[in-house]
Amino acid sequence: MRVPGLGGWSDDPLWATVYDWSVEHPRAGGLLWRFGIQSELRRLYAATDEIGRLPAGARVLDVPCGGGVALRGLRPGQDVEYVAADIARTMLDRTTAAARERGVADQVVPRVADVEQLPFEDDTFDLVVSFTGLHCFPDPARAVVEMTRVLRPGGVITGSAILNDSGLRHEPMRRGGRLAGLLGPGCTGPEVVHWLQARGVLAPTLERSGAMGYFRGVKS
Ligand SMILES: C[S@@+](CC[C@H](N)C(=O)[O-])C[C@H]1O[C@@H](n2cnc3c(N)ncnc32)[C@H](O)[C@@H]1O
Repeated sequence: MRVPGLGGWSDDPLWATVYDWSVEHPRAGGLLWRFGIQSELRRLYAATDEIGRLPAGARVLDVPCGGGVALRGLRPGQDVEYVAADIARTMLDRTTAAARERGVADQVVPRVADVEQLPFEDDTFDLVVSFTGLHCFPDPARAVVEMTRVLRPGGVITGSAILNDSGLRHEPMRRGGRLAGLLGPGCTGPEVVHWLQARGVLAPTLERSGAMGYFRGVKS
């Protein structure tokens, strides 16, 4: 069941603006994260460092890019191709504006795309990042199949998601998000690890930070 009139991500609901504001404000947003989901916003920022370690000429896919929070990992002049993909046009517009502000617009290619049907060739990205994403998708297992399909062997996949096994404390948020049409069925930590392993990702790691789980692995 879904509450009518609230709108999903593509309708740019008020929640999208609130969420975006929270991730771009380390102090006030960080407090919201700490009290709301018992997670450190700075852990998300730290996870984006992986992007800054890519050599010139590398290709990275950020899906869903949202308002572009992961761009903080990208360095001006790094000379990588950064494909920012999201199902919502408004989110891509925010990422484009953020890229301009950060002086990295020349490296960023915005693409409207559904993570469950990515419009990219197999094995073509050196890094796939998916922050705060899996719990928003209608079929997170399918999203993992697609993200690992476009990742080249030896490439890294990393990201985060609100997990279904983070405890009853977060259940009202998960249920409310689903009713609003903003959250999908979600998944547990072991499910994410299993889906990654099934796609040839070696020894995937999962680190919990409150309701959020951070995963990372290398495609064999
Ligand atoms: C909570 S935001 C996270 C965005 C960003 N990665 C971050 O950490 O701030 C979730 C994003 O998922 C996008 N989204 C939802 N369903 C999607 C789908 N099927 N394919 C691609 N993006 C999707 C939404 O438009 C929204 O921008």
